[in-house]
Amino acid sequence: MKELHLACVVGARPNFMKVAPLLRALAPLGQMRATLVHTGQHYDAKLSDVFFDELGMPRPDVSLEVGSGKHGWQTARVIERFEEVLEKYAAAGEPVGRVVVVGDVNSTMAATLAAVKLGVPVAHVEAGLRSFDRTMPEEINRIVTDALCDMLLVSEPSGAANLRREGHPEEHVHLVGNAMIDTLLHLLPMAKSRDTLARLELRPGCYGVVTLHRPSNVDRAETLRPLLEVLIEASAELPLVFPVHPRTQACIERFGLGRRLAAAPGIVRTEPLGYLDFLALSSQTRVMVTDSGGLQEESTVLGIPCLTARFNTERPVTVEQGTSTLVGNDPKKLQAGLRAVLDGSYKQGRCPDLWDGRAAERIARVIVEA
Ligand code: UD1
Repeated sequence: MKELHLACVVGARPNFMKVAPLLRALAPLGQMRATLVHTGQHYDAKLSDVFFDELGMPRPDVSLEVGSGKHGWQTARVIERFEEVLEKYAAAGEPVGRVVVVGDVNSTMAATLAAVKLGVPVAHVEAGLRSFDRTMPEEINRIVTDALCDMLLVSEPSGAANLRREGHPEEHVHLVGNAMIDTLLHLLPMAKSRDTLARLELRPGCYGVVTLHRPSNVDRAETLRPLLEVLIEASAELPLVFPVHPRTQACIERFGLGRRLAAAPGIVRTEPLGYLDFLALSSQTRVMVTDSGGLQEESTVLGIPCLTARFNTERPVTVEQGTSTLVGNDPKKLQAGLRAVLDGSYKQGRCPDLWDGRAAERIARVIVEA
């Protein structure tokens, strides 16, 4: 049997924890070679390098070094450069037989476009999620990616239902569970044994964690300022750790909010954290306030209340079964959610099916047996 040459593509922070367990699961299967391609959408050490080290991932075989830019520019650069990579492998007699993309970032969609146009089939990990909000760049990325992929690896039942409704044939849709949770369960003991809390002078259960980076929350002062005011008020009762994404940092500076935050003793601002330090914090926090997709899922598995600063979610299982509540960018809803957590009246959740730490094994089997 001829060896299958897979190209696994990563680009931005949330991609790394989905590909790491997959590479581990593929390794023992044999008759298969995996080439890791990093588009360079995220390039800062704190958004990229640290994840390779901590997740035990091999360094990328190929770096496209696209960097930051407007959507069209960034997408175009990935398409152009990934196309060249695929052509080079083909010319060298080592053609890529299948591309694997994950998540919903610009790199995901761009790599898919480049591959399918060259006739290389693509598998999408985390397929089928839909927020039904086309103002989100990620929603466009999800729709385009899924439309072009013939192997759709789905993390929660809503994803399979969406794909069926969109007319994807049943044999393309595989409900396999959540690969990002594989990484969480694998590294949780190591994360908890770190001195992260001590370094920040925090005690388990006696602080909250905040992350905000979506354009819809951070790009306008009228939205960001009231959210931060609620957080500052709550931080008098519960210290809040706030690792700040570069986009958010730039907005805080632009809107002159830096001094206001610095003057709040309960707000502990940090740079973006590595995976293990962040998991140490998120697994022992009293509450999570976030607009991240991945953190809605992680808090659900960890049983941590999650106030999600979104009007909708492509991950409804985290609201229906898990610990997430959508508070939009409404300061009053955020305030009420924080109150419920502090009063001990916040809802409890359960871990969704197949979020069991073995999703990557199921994904690897589907890919290799295709
Ligand atoms: C991207 C993804 C988003 C994901 C997020 C996780 C898209 C459309 N968005 O958003 O879905 O939740 O990653 O972080 O793909 N920057 C740096 N250093 C870097 C990378 C970016 O400073 O290494 C700054 C640049 O100023 C850049 C800005 O962050 O313009 C935004 O980066 P970009 O990759 O375009 O989107 P994210 O907001 O990170």
